[in-house]
Amino acid sequence: MVDMTVQIGSLKLNNPVIAASGTFGFEREIEQYMDLSKLGGISSKGLTIKPRSGNDAPRVAECPQGMLNSVGLQNPGIEYFIENELPHMLTYGCAVIANIAGHEFEEYGEMAKLLEDTAVDAIELNLSCPNVSGGCMAFGSDAYMIRSVVSSVKKVSSKPLWVKLTPNVTSISEMAIAAEEAGADAVSLINTLLGLVIDIDSRRPIMKNNTGGLSGPAVRPVAVRMVNEVYNAVSIPVIGMGGIMTGRDAAEMMIAGASAVQVGTANLVKPTACIDIIRELESWTANTGAAGVSEITGTIVKW
Ligand code: FUM
Repeated sequence: MVDMTVQIGSLKLNNPVIAASGTFGFEREIEQYMDLSKLGGISSKGLTIKPRSGNDAPRVAECPQGMLNSVGLQNPGIEYFIENELPHMLTYGCAVIANIAGHEFEEYGEMAKLLEDTAVDAIELNLSCPNVSGGCMAFGSDAYMIRSVVSSVKKVSSKPLWVKLTPNVTSISEMAIAAEEAGADAVSLINTLLGLVIDIDSRRPIMKNNTGGLSGPAVRPVAVRMVNEVYNAVSIPVIGMGGIMTGRDAAEMMIAGASAVQVGTANLVKPTACIDIIRELESWTANTGAAGVSEITGTIVKW
């Protein structure tokens, strides 16, 4: 028997596996395939102040060992989410995390205020979506802006605050330190790597928005390296993501320093991937002789 619970600041999760934002919708389409109470948590699709229809299609493209997306934050808007989706999500019995994405600086605080009287377990500040023209990654690649957004949200919110970081920067540790110093309770990384795929016959980018965010197994070594770097730079918990497809991949991310992991692209390949990953991680942990999965975090052995 392995204790699969993990602690992310004040929030206790059933286990370290969280379905990543944007890969589970608002879960209604997934609930027929699995018992969602078995998950550690679910991060909502990125929410904005106003509803968004997202970018024009084509907005996904497969590539070797991964995919690019340029969805453009399609979502029904935060007020619709609070009234119509959140109550149902809260019945699942795992942690519910609201991922919020502002275009203007003030929008993060406005959305955090709207979430204050709800039962969401944590807020994940999306400072990393690469597919929109303002906010998000533009803020998340500037340490000063990260500090400003995080401290403004901290002033209006009592919820645990996670900051989702972009890998499209020179130093992700610098961004993580800025988030920690401004009061973040955890950092989650990595969001997608900015990429471009071209149809060589037409010579046009495959996606209408030209570029998109690369995810899937191709990015995993980059994510593991960044998680390890950030783990060594901050004291708050690190939530690792990027190309996790199996329980062993989740173990690797935790050994690098993650206290919990998020699973994204794997859900699009197999909707029940998270359940398989939890099972595999549990049995791998049991074989190590550890009493609890949290003992794995940061156990990388240096040469
Ligand atoms: O385009 C998108 O909706 C992606 C969002 C994200 O990467 O956070």
